[in-house]
Amino acid sequence: MEFTRKNGQLLSRIATNDRHGENSPYFDGWKAYNKDPFHPAQNPDGVIQMGLAENQLCFDLIKKWILENPDASICTAEGVDKFKDIAIYQDYHGLKEFREAVAKFMGRVGGNRVTFDPNRIVMSGGATGANETVVFCLANPGDAFLVPSPYYAGFARDLRWRTGLEIVPVDCKSSNNFRITRAALEEAYEKAQRSNINVKGVILTNPSNPLGTILDRETMRSLVSFVDEKNIHLVCDEIYAATVFSSPRFISIAEIIQDMDCNRDLIHIVYSLSKDMGFPGFRVGIVYSFNDAVVHCARKMSSFGLVSSQTQYLLASMLSDEEFVGNFLRESSKRLARRHCVFTKGLEQVGISCLKSNGGLFFWMDMRPLLKEQTVQGELELWRVIISEVKLNVSPGSSFQCSEPGWFRVCFANMDDETVAVALERIRAFVLKGKEEDTPDQKSKRWHKKSLRLSFSSSRLYDESLMSPRMLSPHSPLMLSPHSPLVRART
Ligand SMILES: Cc1ncc(COP(=O)(O)O)c(C=O)c1O
Repeated sequence: MEFTRKNGQLLSRIATNDRHGENSPYFDGWKAYNKDPFHPAQNPDGVIQMGLAENQLCFDLIKKWILENPDASICTAEGVDKFKDIAIYQDYHGLKEFREAVAKFMGRVGGNRVTFDPNRIVMSGGATGANETVVFCLANPGDAFLVPSPYYAGFARDLRWRTGLEIVPVDCKSSNNFRITRAALEEAYEKAQRSNINVKGVILTNPSNPLGTILDRETMRSLVSFVDEKNIHLVCDEIYAATVFSSPRFISIAEIIQDMDCNRDLIHIVYSLSKDMGFPGFRVGIVYSFNDAVVHCARKMSSFGLVSSQTQYLLASMLSDEEFVGNFLRESSKRLARRHCVFTKGLEQVGISCLKSNGGLFFWMDMRPLLKEQTVQGELELWRVIISEVKLNVSPGSSFQCSEPGWFRVCFANMDDETVAVALERIRAFVLKGKEEDTPDQKSKRWHKKSLRLSFSSSRLYDESLMSPRMLSPHSPLMLSPHSPLVRART
């Protein structure tokens, strides 16, 4: 206590403010997992991590490429002659070959309908750094961005913490599959105006995190018209551009503005190789702006978060291998589709439905029928049961600012097939237990409520300490070992 108070006086406002957003169930789920992580042999009753948007389905393909191309890794006998050139200081524009390879890759991911200019590629420490850099370029502390909700939980931290930006949610509803409508945008914009909040733009993810859905052409055109009329910015986080496994296809905002009469200076893209290639540890983020001044400023800022030249060198080589990239993207989509199908069909069999989606590393599970009450409180009560009894770390919709309680984000690509089977079995058992314990006439319509009443009365149900906001952050160096998955991952 004394320590905290003293630090509060000694450290900066940024160091001590709580805009990092750690006090949310999203991160509490991580703590629960960290305390008791599932392992098939050593801890088969542990918590299964389903709150991590990581793509672990194609590492065999990457491994094969690395073994076949030893010169691309400069710390090998075949590559070491390049070591000195790469290890010395590099221009913060980035290696030319790297920018060219990334621009080409982004074009390919967008279906080769647009050409990206390598001179507009600005490096950053992951999409996390890229999003913050864009905000630093576009907004002053106290300004706001409209963000369609539900939105990526990390935005609370990435967009706001150090920049002083405010987020104004644009409320999207399940009644139209969470589509972003012009009416909702106008409503959020006007509400901000009435509160004297200066709206500088709209930021969204396409494909959506947490929904896994893809924006359609009409909605995108309407978004561009909206920002154009208001003379504000549009930032599209396209980090899941290639993480799409069935139709409709992904359309980049770059393609949309090609045939629109609009101010291109307002359009900016954030990209990263964390999801599409499954390299979150490499911290490769990209700011791609159509605005020369933003490119210029972001590039100057990029000195604070450059990608290691060793990584640039390796990726320049890998991404230029067109045959490999084509095969990787095809195979990745196939494996994601299969995994998504296994999960959602398995849930369907026990009566749990999900929002129809075809992208991302997660799906949006509808647990509204299982809520004791249709409130955030009801949602969090169910979530605690799922964490502490079913032992699955899924993320509650409220941590994505979803205005309708009862939705949960479930990540499906960060585990092996055996773990999937265990996770599905646990959900099945949980749901069936509820059904069995119901009286016959309740069985048909109200089994879920009974199930929850029983679960909530369980003594193991709710570990207060797990939820205490006073607990150390999941990223706290005091709390975790360096090998903890909480230290290594954040999404
Ligand atoms: C929409 C979105 N943006 C940004 C990020 C951060 O990505 P990175 O690991 O590249 O910083 C994530 C990670 O989950 C994300 O889902």
